[in-house]
Amino acid sequence: MNLEVHLDADELARTLRADVTTGLTASPKWLPPKWFYDERGSELFEQITELPEYYPTRCERQILAAHADGIARHTHARTLIELGSGYSTKTRLLLEALTGLETFVPMDVSPSALTDAAVRITAEYPGLTVHNIVGDITRHLKFLPSGGDRLIAFLGGTIGNFDPAERAAFFADVRAVLGEGEHLLLGTDLVKSPSVLVPAYDDAAGVTAEFNRNVLHVLNRSLGADFDPAAFEHVALWDAEHEWIEMRLRATRAMRVTVADIGLTADFADGEEMRTEISAKFRREGVRAELAEAGFELDHWWTDPAGMFAVSLSRAI
Ligand code: SAH
Ligand code: TRP
Repeated sequence: MNLEVHLDADELARTLRADVTTGLTASPKWLPPKWFYDERGSELFEQITELPEYYPTRCERQILAAHADGIARHTHARTLIELGSGYSTKTRLLLEALTGLETFVPMDVSPSALTDAAVRITAEYPGLTVHNIVGDITRHLKFLPSGGDRLIAFLGGTIGNFDPAERAAFFADVRAVLGEGEHLLLGTDLVKSPSVLVPAYDDAAGVTAEFNRNVLHVLNRSLGADFDPAAFEHVALWDAEHEWIEMRLRATRAMRVTVADIGLTADFADGEEMRTEISAKFRREGVRAELAEAGFELDHWWTDPAGMFAVSLSRAI
């Protein structure tokens, strides 16, 4: 097992400072979502995937279980690259099915999740070369191994955490690292009733609320900020125009927050909301068109029986 680090503590600190400065001085305020995933954040997300209300993980696992053999047949992948891999839990289904697989390359911003997954996968698949990359998928795709017969998997509906412009840039970047005939396996959550969508991002046990507030703990710890996380409440709402779930943190009183390491002061009004995440939901035609724009042909579109979630397989053309 081999760990390649493109996001060391220095660079993390630098980009975090820049992001926080931009977000907290904007109106309305916002924070970039990749900062959710410190060790605690990665653990909390893993708990989210097991919540009764959070259907995407279960649906995606069901689809992968049903179609992993098909994916293997269509791609003949020798290298599996997984972006935003987290604990790579569902990925086992692919590792089992891809019989010609030689190398597995997970890339994530969270070193703790990546290492934990790699240790287990290395033990379970002794013949497989595991090459871990700590990196930012919006900036470090150029460090992915070249080769042929690569399959890039981007699961969990994480693509929905990018806004449409970021998504277009991301698909173009992915296309640029692939050669003609190589594949992209993409998990997308689908548009459905807000009565199902909203609880998935606002569970009864409050795990998602804690996950959302975790970003404030990250800022306190890494930038010497003095957020009182208990003074912010979790908000999840469905934006029907953009077809995305929006996560916010709402100040429950007026307060002044200081971010010592960047010498920044931010004033919150009572009830002021700060955006922390979007999770866009998709339709088949939209996914097909966005991928076509980037130079991919969508060959397969699989959903779970209830039509909640889709996994698509596309080919670089
Ligand atoms: N693929 C897993 C985890 C999804 S959660 C699943 O399907 O369950 C999103 C994952 O993407 C987290 O592990 C997070 O650390 C990672 N992530 C978020 N933004 C990222 C970025 N810009 N670069 C790399 N990884 C990122
Ligand atoms: N990729 C996940 C999703 O959009 C991330 C996620 C799930 C998330 N629940 C969340 C992000 C709550 C922020 C807050 O489904």
